[in-house]
Amino acid sequence: MFDRRRFLNVLGTAGAALAMKPVFAETGLPKVVVSKDPSCGCCSGWIDHIRAAGFPVEVREIPEIKRVKVRLGVPQDLTSCHTAEVGGYVIEGHVPADAIMRLLAEKPQAKGLAVPGMPVGSPGMEVTGVENDTYEVVLFGPAGQRTFARYQGSEEV
Ligand code: CU
Ligand code: CU
Repeated sequence: MFDRRRFLNVLGTAGAALAMKPVFAETGLPKVVVSKDPSCGCCSGWIDHIRAAGFPVEVREIPEIKRVKVRLGVPQDLTSCHTAEVGGYVIEGHVPADAIMRLLAEKPQAKGLAVPGMPVGSPGMEVTGVENDTYEVVLFGPAGQRTFARYQGSEEV
């Protein structure tokens, strides 16, 4: 799925995000604990996006990331690369920060949010010169799955 050029583009985006000032300085947002495979780069792009939105982040490098998904109950059809925990919810994949904020504000009865796969243009998956995918943020839990939001790039559509 990753060619070298795309990988470098993602790295470039991560660098740009690092240079950004956090939007909220001390908002008291809950900590996001991210489990990621040490060899995966796009997760770092997402982490930069989450940090830029003001979330404190703890990163756990875990080679056997699949075990984390099983332990946290991420449905197999919703899996992506990294898996995060925040405020009692599970966040799977490249979920935009404002969708997480809405989740934390609305507190629905659910296990968490997922962006399955690796949509082009989702936070951490930006690719210059390629049209962004439209993708769904899925709310999942014991009651099943439903569309929580729809995005193209980092904009809700
Ligand atoms: Cu990824
Ligand atoms: Cu990744």
